[in-house]
Amino acid sequence: MTETLIIQGTNKTETYRSLTPQIAALTEHEPDVIANFANIAAALKHTFHFFWVGFYRVIDNELVLGPFQGPIACTRIAKGKGVCGSAWAQNKTLIVPDVDLFPGHIACSSLSRSEIVVPVHNKMGEIVAVLDVDSEHLNKFDAIDQHYLEAIVKILLESL
Ligand code: SME
Repeated sequence: MTETLIIQGTNKTETYRSLTPQIAALTEHEPDVIANFANIAAALKHTFHFFWVGFYRVIDNELVLGPFQGPIACTRIAKGKGVCGSAWAQNKTLIVPDVDLFPGHIACSSLSRSEIVVPVHNKMGEIVAVLDVDSEHLNKFDAIDQHYLEAIVKILLESL
């Protein structure tokens, strides 16, 4: 198994291209979703030094905090609430360049300024979790992050 990630690349696209197959290798023989969420959160956090990276799982029609890297966070989010609950309700990736301009944003930390939330689907097409990545910088996330983060959560599709 891969014990150390070797990340090559001088720009974001190259870094994601280097990271994505390593995440696939890291998770392919592990059926436990919590273990895989935990390693994905760690890999993204340590590669890009994002402020907060983590998963919220859909449990009993609520989002419940799952494996994450970063400061402590709110534990439960209702459907349609905040960026995470909105991405779940709308079943699509949401990029928020300035969280202060997002109605109903849930401020787990006042240091978080922009974020991207990506729904995680199982093979039946149901949303089982969301991946939430937060930055302390405004306008940190774009279509490149969306493309690769969506590809990364799809790696887990068969095991969810
Ligand atoms: N920002 C999220 C809440 C989760 S924390 O930031 C970790 C939201 O508004 O959904």
